[in-house]
Amino acid sequence: MLTFDFYNPTRIVFGKDRLKELNKLIPAEAKVLVLYGGGSVKKFGTLDKVRQALGERKVIEFGGIEPNPRFSTLMQAVEVVKRESIDFLLAVGGGSVMDGTKFITLASAYDGNAEDLLRCGFKPVPLTSALPIGTVVTLPATGSEMNSGGVISHQGGKYPVFSPLAFPQFSLLDPTLTFTLPPTQVANGVIDTFIHTVEQYVTIPAEGRFQDRTAEGILRTLIEIGKKTIDQPTDFDARANLMWCATNALNGLIGAGVPQDWSTHMIGHELTAMFGIDHAKTLAIVQPAVWTVRKEQKRAKLLQYAERVWDITEGEETTRIDQAIEKTRGFFEGLGVPTRLGAYGVTAEKIDDLVAALEKHGMTRLGETGEVTLEVSRRILEAAL
Ligand code: NZQ
Ligand code: ZN
Repeated sequence: MLTFDFYNPTRIVFGKDRLKELNKLIPAEAKVLVLYGGGSVKKFGTLDKVRQALGERKVIEFGGIEPNPRFSTLMQAVEVVKRESIDFLLAVGGGSVMDGTKFITLASAYDGNAEDLLRCGFKPVPLTSALPIGTVVTLPATGSEMNSGGVISHQGGKYPVFSPLAFPQFSLLDPTLTFTLPPTQVANGVIDTFIHTVEQYVTIPAEGRFQDRTAEGILRTLIEIGKKTIDQPTDFDARANLMWCATNALNGLIGAGVPQDWSTHMIGHELTAMFGIDHAKTLAIVQPAVWTVRKEQKRAKLLQYAERVWDITEGEETTRIDQAIEKTRGFFEGLGVPTRLGAYGVTAEKIDDLVAALEKHGMTRLGETGEVTLEVSRRILEAAL
């Protein structure tokens, strides 16, 4: 096992009908900025319940944070935070609203040009204090509710932003608030959670036995409940399991002390930035192609994945690996998510542009060993056609 620090200060408040507890979770004297997206929380009544729970506090709202939140939109909220002397930020939404809110708290505390914060990559941004945030999760997918990162879109790129100050103080996870999600967003949630898990698991062996078994538990749970929670959106337990898997797939637990890949995510980000394809759908396209191209480098963990996640134990090793890749592709397709670039209208001629974008964004040595060069990324994109 590799050396690691594990730190996670986020309180999880999980279960039905707990929104009223916001009153206890946020200081009574706080002036609160409630942030939300394109309006689903208004339409389905969540925002009203949040306002009710906040009682007599001074509350200001900021709506319109778009999927793949944009720097320019978030900077408008930074103006509000400063002008109104806000002292608590409450995100009500999915990954985009949570990520946006994290950026807003950081940018509000930063004295320089906030664009600098987009250039820190996976290093923490240079800040020592920021306003506290809380979240009410309406889409289980990204794990943003219990981690310290966000992804911000700006001028044709998607930029990771990290800071221990961006951990939510609390996240309220009520599975019933997600019952209104359209099937395609639930499928996105299952797939994003699945890929977060394999990015930290299908790498190279590191004797992280707890991490591996936990990752396998998440993956098997997703396979058990994935289709069910799309087809039966109000089945509480299926949705609750998706929600808790999503949180645990990216809160640092399964990634501590083991190698991590993330090439699928980085290549996927370029597909979102260039063609507007949903985050999780880009992952469904890229992940099977990454495994196809890097079968040899990932051989041991792919065999473990085949056996422990898909019960594939018979046949030649290479055949078992191929079967596991096909099972994975079939799982995503079975959730209604196509896994080939062509299905999204992206043709071979676009690969040059995608590789150029990876180069522009410094994504030239990806993967658990840094061996995913631009040339390997090109082969991955070709395998995804
Ligand atoms: O904007 P509204 O009107 O609220 O509608 C949203 C949005 O259109 C809708 N929605 C959310 N909750 C709903 C609902 N509709 C009905 N009922 C509900 N309960 O769903 C749409 C998508 O929302 P979004 O927040 O964009 O989706 P998701 O949670 O998948 O977040 C994607 C973003 O997270 C980033 C991605 O890059 C992308 O920008 N990620 C963040 C990560 C992190 N912070 O750790 C890790 C991930 O790998 C990912 O990169
Ligand atoms: Zn993701």
